[in-house]
Amino acid sequence: MIKAFHSVAGLLLVLVLAGSCADTAKEDSAPTVLPPPDVRLVLVDQARWAMSAHNMQPWRIVLDRADPRRIGIYLADDRLLPATDPYSRQIVMSIGGFLEALREAASARGFSARIAPFPEGAPAGEDGGSSFTRPVANVRIMPATGAAQPGSAHAVSSATVKANLEPADFSLGQDQAYLEANAWKGVSLRFLRDEDSLAQLKPVLREAFRLEMQHEPTLLESYRLMRRNRRQIAERPWGLSYGSNYPEKSLRLIELFETLFPMEKKKWGLRGADNFDREVDKAAVFLIIATDGNNRLLQLQAGMLFQRLWRIALRDGYAMVPASQPLQEYQAMAEHYRRIHRSFASPGQTIQMIAWLGRPDPGYRPGFRIPAVKLLSPE
Ligand SMILES: Cc1cc2nc3c(=O)[nH]c(=O)nc-3n(C[C@H](O)[C@H](O)[C@H](O)COP(=O)(O)O)c2cc1C
Repeated sequence: MIKAFHSVAGLLLVLVLAGSCADTAKEDSAPTVLPPPDVRLVLVDQARWAMSAHNMQPWRIVLDRADPRRIGIYLADDRLLPATDPYSRQIVMSIGGFLEALREAASARGFSARIAPFPEGAPAGEDGGSSFTRPVANVRIMPATGAAQPGSAHAVSSATVKANLEPADFSLGQDQAYLEANAWKGVSLRFLRDEDSLAQLKPVLREAFRLEMQHEPTLLESYRLMRRNRRQIAERPWGLSYGSNYPEKSLRLIELFETLFPMEKKKWGLRGADNFDREVDKAAVFLIIATDGNNRLLQLQAGMLFQRLWRIALRDGYAMVPASQPLQEYQAMAEHYRRIHRSFASPGQTIQMIAWLGRPDPGYRPGFRIPAVKLLSPE
């Protein structure tokens, strides 16, 4: 069985690496040097395109040497967001996104990924996760019994466009495919598009974003993650860039200018808040993911669902723009956190994600990610 798995894996690898790694090299700017063939690395190479909070890609990968089917997924303790996400709720959600992307990549290639979340226990709710060394998940890659699931075998690498969006022309009834994507008990999804709800929601989002950009620890955390040109992206390929905000044709000039005369932190924060206001004003369709309670498993599952929805939105030609600010758990945000829950959650529920759908213009640069081999660690 293991032998058969190896030969299928080896064959696939030869077929696949040429295509997928050619793309990768182009998009990463740093060349990817691959260790000896291992199909698990091909799957990781795709799954790393999952979305993540502040694009932190907070996953660390162990390809088990003793068990050629096992992938261990760990928290990358040097890519957390202690000021913005003090309990690493969004970090855990992001790893959920990675797991979902891994599952999709496996099934598109005729494998099934069996995910065992927190096999040795989860971090406590109030733990920021920086000393959490146990696996977030063990994944076993098995040959699938049925045919390969239809779905993209290609990396999701188009940028999450966050500017100049047209309101989504999302008809009633079009939500069905999104609602059906929710396979998790205790995780709920709903859409908001009626005037009263939007009139209640938008001011909270705007005020929360402005607060985050004026609150020194969170402003500093985001500002330090800005990558202002391709060289900075290649050196530290996680964090934020202007690629989500400017189309490629103007991006080079913006990056050159910002490299030579970087905007001062306070001004950068306020400019961001002004842009956010403009985009939120236009938004017409929002989604909310909530969980019954707020344990680590539910956070992971909410992240899986969000990644799945993001993929459907991309397929439908929409940009999915998260607005996490009123959901952050640092003290200065507490009032907005309460407000948003009072308005949009049932008693006992935790809102894990708020996002809107918009129609982007074409012509944005692909996002950037850490090369797959650099995510690997021995244990
Ligand atoms: C849990 C979570 C929270 C996020 N919160 C925000 C947010 O508040 N604002 C935002 O613009 N993007 C948010 N994002 C999206 C990320 O910024 C985006 O996925 C990441 O930067 C990758 O961008 P790319 O698709 O352009 O490569 C969030 C993503 C996740 C998974």
